[in-house]
Formats: sequence, C-alpha cells, structure tokens
Amino acid sequence: MWIVWLGRFTIARGALPVANGGMSKPAPPTTRAECEALDRADPLAAKRAAFALPDGVIYLDGHSLGPATYAAMDRISSTARREWANGLIRSWNDAGWIDLPRTVGAKLARLIGAKADEVIVCDSVSVNLFKLAAAALPVAKARIVIVEESEFPTDQYMAEGLAEITGATLLRVESEQGSKALAETAGVLIKSVVNYRTSLVVDVAEHERVAAQSGGLIVWDLSHATGVIALDLRADGARMATGCTYKFLNGGPGAPAFVYVRSGLAAELRSPISGWFGHAEPFAFASLYAPTEGVARFAAGTPGVLSLTALDAALSVFDGVEMRVLANKARALGDLVVARTTAIGLKSISPLDAKVRGGHVSVRHDEGYAVVQALIARGIIPDFRAPDVMRVGVAPLFVRFVDVWDAMDALSDVLDTRAWDTPSFKTRAAVT
Ligand SMILES: Cc1ncc(COP(=O)(O)O)c(C=O)c1O
Repeated sequence: MWIVWLGRFTIARGALPVANGGMSKPAPPTTRAECEALDRADPLAAKRAAFALPDGVIYLDGHSLGPATYAAMDRISSTARREWANGLIRSWNDAGWIDLPRTVGAKLARLIGAKADEVIVCDSVSVNLFKLAAAALPVAKARIVIVEESEFPTDQYMAEGLAEITGATLLRVESEQGSKALAETAGVLIKSVVNYRTSLVVDVAEHERVAAQSGGLIVWDLSHATGVIALDLRADGARMATGCTYKFLNGGPGAPAFVYVRSGLAAELRSPISGWFGHAEPFAFASLYAPTEGVARFAAGTPGVLSLTALDAALSVFDGVEMRVLANKARALGDLVVARTTAIGLKSISPLDAKVRGGHVSVRHDEGYAVVQALIARGIIPDFRAPDVMRVGVAPLFVRFVDVWDAMDALSDVLDTRAWDTPSFKTRAAVT
C-alpha cells in the first residue's frame, strides 16, 4: 500500500459544491411569535405527533440518533410477540422476514431518488463502504482508493484498510479535493454527500460527471443526507451508495444501513463478502458461490429482523412527504440557527448558504463539550464533535421553529452566565 498525500489543489471550474435543487428562502424569524406563526403554517407540523419525544426535551440530535416513533415501537413489540413468539421459524416465510432487506429497501428508495429494486438494507455503513469500494476497484480504471481527510473517520479507515489488503494505492486528499483527484487518477472515491462536521452538501451530479469522464467510480456515503435533503441519485448519475438509517430515518440505535447500486451495474460487481444471503439460491445449499441478480448480491448474512421491521415502520412517517418540502424546512430552521448563533457571537463552520447546507448547523466554541452538557442538563440536546464543534440538528419532521428559538435562548444564557464552567460538565463520557 502506498499512502500519497496531496497538497491543496486549485479547485477546478465546476467542482465547487452547488445546491442539490434550490428554492428561494424567506428571512429567518426575529421573534418567538414569528416562530409560532411559522409552526402553525408548517405543512409538516402533523408529523411531530408520530414521535415519542419526552416532555420537556428539545431534541436537536436527530442527525445522530433519530427519536423513536410510536410506529417503530409498536412494530418491534408486535413482531416479537406475534411473528417470533407465535410464528417461530415459520415467520421467515409467513411474515415475509426473508424479503425484508428488499422490501424495506424498496420503501427507502423513493427518499434517495432510486428505483425500488436498486436498494437493499443490510449491515452497517462501515461494512457496506468496504463491500462497495472493494467491488468498484476492479471496475475503475485505476486501482486507487481516494478519500478526503475531512471525511467521517470510518470512511477513511475503510479506505485505508481496503488499500492495505488489496495492495491498491491509498490517496488521501484535502477537504473537497476528491473530485479533482478523481479526474486525475480515475480511482475509487469514497465521499459523503453531506459532511458530518460542516454539513456542506456537495454536487453529486458534477462529481459523477467527473467520474464518468475519467473512468473512476464514486461510493457515496449518504448517512447525513438521507431523509433531510432532496436526493435524486438516478437523475444525478450516482452509481453506488450506502447510508445509515438511524439518523434522519429514525430506524433506531444501530439500525441496519442500505446499499444502492444503479441498475445494470450490479452485474459487473462482486461483493468481497460473498455470504449466503447474497447467493442466487441460498437454500439450495450449493458449495459454490453464485451471486444473485442486482443489488441484493451485496447482502451477506442473516438479516436482523427486529431492526428491519422497526425501520420499516419508521419509514412510514415519510409517507406523503415531499422531500423538497422537507429539505426547505430544514434550510429554514438552519437559517434560524445561523442567525441566532451569529447574534450570540459564535462562528459557524457550516455554509451560511442554506442551499449547500444539510440538516445540521455546526458552531465552534473552545468549551463546546461543556456548553453542550450544560444545555443537556436543561433538557436541550444538541451534540458535540471533538475538538470544539457543537452541532445543532434540525430534523424537519419533528423540530419546530419555537424549539430552535427556545434552544438558542438557552444557549445564549448558558454562555452569558458561564453555566457550562463547572467540572461536572467538563468530564467526557465515552460517547459524545
Ligand atoms: C458520514 C458517516 N458515515 C458513517 C457513519 C457510521 O457508520 P456505521 O453505521 O458503520 O457506524 C456515520 C456515523 O455517524 C457517519 O456520520
């Protein structure tokens, strides 16, 4: 394995991130009464009732772990009682357990602009990144794995591990230089659509144009994008993607991830995890591996039925939701966070332009961890990413304008009074 560090490229014309579908935005509200008026006019307002949010809590961490829906909790209970306890092993057929990776994938497909048979649900994002990038390597022109140093760590670790075991070259590049590297090397780029730290949204179509021209491939990580921005993978020419379902899709802690492979491409790809659930006839118990048709060849082992049914139920909350409406509300809520945090004197590392910002806004504070703990003690739950970033998530299915307003009032007070400045708020827990 060679590790190559590239210095900052000159950004190529057209490589700058642009909006994934833009709409004009009104100015953020300037009073709580205006926030209440916006909430009354919100076409998504009724969706909040689907969530089992605790009283007295303002939840601004849906970008990390989506809250429980009543539908998901009921489904876990009914699946366990009826299908598992009573149906026992018969439920693999009678209750359709065996089909869940495909049926839940088909339900999710609309949210990312894919066809129903282009998505399956399986494994974790980390494992799926590995499977997809490994499968892409023999198809790309060059045996090079490209990853940006600003990527989510698991994406970087997967790129590193894959290069190590395959002997491919690992090319680490600076933030937002992946497209340029792709144009020059025709390797396999692992890239998030929405950056976990900054919330920057990149132009999928432009990246795919570069990949198609060079002969490279992109494995998209949609973890921070799915369920909060209007994705249109087919229209944008995306060929391979994975993403998690426990953030804006509210599938539950550790819910399985999904895999998207564009129709036609799957036949060229071989999963490096050639498990029996990706076999054409798993119950023929043949000795030799023969992958099934389409994206389902990226399934590996026995699916987690309880998690899949929880996700299936949680996805129903998106029924009737137009993704552009959802994305617009996230932008408007984010604009309010930007306006209020700027007024407080905090510096945003997220784009100020809502058209290129995802479902969270990140601001810097040297004592960000303690500030977040002080807010949590008041029932307001954002999150923190080392070393100094506070992320405020604005999941549009349940966050209201008044929630953001009240949370920003509390943030202002915590900073003014230095309520964060106590040892108990500075002791780091294992999970931040
Ligand atoms: C962009 C991104 N990729 C991947 C992951 C995690 O992947 P996994 O589901 O394998 O833990 C996260 C988790 O927050 C993420 O933000």
